[in-house]
Amino acid sequence: MENNLLYSDYSLVVTEDGSHSIRFSAVDEGYHSVHGATSEAVHVYLLPNFATQAAQKSVLHVFEMGFGTGLNALLTYMFAHAMGCKVYYTAVEAYPVPYSVYSQLNYPVSCANILGDMFPDVCFDNLQHSFELMHTSAWGTPVSISDHFVLLKHHSLLHDVDFAPNSFDVVYYDAFAPQYQPELWTPEVFEKIYSAVAAGAILTTYCCKGDVKRALKAANFKIEKLPGPKGKREMLRAMPIGK
Ligand SMILES: C[S@@+](CC[C@H](N)C(=O)[O-])C[C@H]1O[C@@H](n2cnc3c(N)ncnc32)[C@H](O)[C@@H]1O
Repeated sequence: MENNLLYSDYSLVVTEDGSHSIRFSAVDEGYHSVHGATSEAVHVYLLPNFATQAAQKSVLHVFEMGFGTGLNALLTYMFAHAMGCKVYYTAVEAYPVPYSVYSQLNYPVSCANILGDMFPDVCFDNLQHSFELMHTSAWGTPVSISDHFVLLKHHSLLHDVDFAPNSFDVVYYDAFAPQYQPELWTPEVFEKIYSAVAAGAILTTYCCKGDVKRALKAANFKIEKLPGPKGKREMLRAMPIGK
């Protein structure tokens, strides 16, 4: 993939729950499920991972593989606010989505609709502003988006980023599928993630392929299959062994 991507390299998609997603012509792959981008993110990353950890800890260190549209970051920001915890959110992104594309995404509205039903007593203010700040914030330096959310984005390939050992409680592994980017689903990559996660960390991913399960096990993760989001039978949750 190249780094000089243009507006024409992306197309905007409306998914089944009304939230947007994008397709990326460089890999001819969508960023999210057509059955609902926001619903999928809540099902795969927020509920079985972030919310489980946030119920037990008031400060959480989150790592996201592939910042992309910023959907997972915005949802985590909202959950952190609703659940009253402080989040240090680190994301790596090699091919940032351009302004002409992310400025069209309806996430501040669609996420407020979906999370409004889950947290009826919580008021989500200034989501549009916070979402824009997440995209415009500087690379390579922590930026405070609010009192409860600090964002550190690395404009880099995952292979080129160094992480402090034992630092993350939550990992959203949201790379393009192994058939498009097999190099992001190897035992070596998961060993790098293993070294970066703390004892008791949770990694979730939408991908439940046999090779991915074997790569996670080879890197010393215990894996568990969970029911997938709409349109997918299964997803994976993994926890490090021996930390
Ligand atoms: C499936 S998309 C998900 C993005 C994001 N989580 C979202 O919800 O929009 C995968 C993301 O990984 C990024 N990516 C692809 N290869 C990468 C690499 N080697 N290192 C870091 N990011 C990469 C892509 O540009 C894309 O944004």
